[in-house]
Amino acid sequence: MLEASIDIRRAGIGFNHWYAVARSSEVTVRPHAVILWHQSIMLYRDRQGTIRALEDRCPHRQVKLSHGCVVEDAIECAYHGWQFNGDGHCVSVPYLTDRQKLPNCVIRRYPVREQNGFIWVFPGEGEKAEAIAPLPLEEWEHLNYIATVSAIDTQAHFSFLIENLMDMCHGHLHADLQAWADPVLAQLEASDTRVDAHYNAQSYYRIDKIYSISQLFFPSLRRLHPEPLDVSYLYPNWVATLGKDFKIVCLFCPVSATHTRAYLLHFTSLHAFRRLHKLPSGFRRWIKNLCFGAAQKMLDGLVAQDVAMIEEEQRAYLAHPKRHSYELNPTIGRVQALIRQQAESG
Ligand code: FES
Ligand SMILES: [Fe+2]
Repeated sequence: MLEASIDIRRAGIGFNHWYAVARSSEVTVRPHAVILWHQSIMLYRDRQGTIRALEDRCPHRQVKLSHGCVVEDAIECAYHGWQFNGDGHCVSVPYLTDRQKLPNCVIRRYPVREQNGFIWVFPGEGEKAEAIAPLPLEEWEHLNYIATVSAIDTQAHFSFLIENLMDMCHGHLHADLQAWADPVLAQLEASDTRVDAHYNAQSYYRIDKIYSISQLFFPSLRRLHPEPLDVSYLYPNWVATLGKDFKIVCLFCPVSATHTRAYLLHFTSLHAFRRLHKLPSGFRRWIKNLCFGAAQKMLDGLVAQDVAMIEEEQRAYLAHPKRHSYELNPTIGRVQALIRQQAESG
């Protein structure tokens, strides 16, 4: 059977999706190098502030263009100083003689968008990019949400990370950082683009008074109460909501079969504070910015605990690739089927 022929721990990515490869703040007028599933990509911002995404390879001698610098709106290679414009065309060679023409080499240009605080790259067939949208992240700008971002950089295949995020039965790992408890899988749906798992769970947090934000810092203030816990694999990313107060998103940037980068975003909703909503938007923006990163300690702590387990899974797999694992959560089977399907579609 074809489906079983792909080893899930080596499966490639589906290319016809937008991937968040960097935060907006990371990309300036200096070249910024990223790798998305073995493809080296160089990002920079031109004088208009527009993001450019080019293959990180000088066609002259194959060195990385990201070692160079941006001159006006072109990228200049560090080695011999050839320059390429934002469309990837060679526009200058410093030692070109009168009798020579500019080489007609063109570097691959990736569709790129700056949206909701992130730089999104489309590594698939360029003509499909317009018809597909990056994951919506309206909470990033919305004044009713406080955001926290934690960067994940793990030496593991992306399947280990998404399985960790979809199997809410691993709350056991998180001890006093745990946000939820007693998950019971109540509903599971899957299609060729997503897996949705609905758990009935208990939440440790309730954000209904302004001082209840302090639950993020003081575990002793938390009280368990029932809340729905919905997690979705919206390929290639993950979105979860715990009741109305929390949304967590993981933006995946798989690097290779043994390396995954991702951004974990935590949004705390302020929807319960009606009086806050009547205040001038400038003041609300100030509050939002002031509180940015409020859940940093908790989020970084969760990431560190998860990454330790994920990397151990990866090492165990490399040592014994054929060893059988026992799985009780049917969500994992659906996630693996989706990964295989996307890998096959390329
Ligand atoms: S290698 Fe880039 S200009 Fe020569
Ligand atoms: Fe976790």
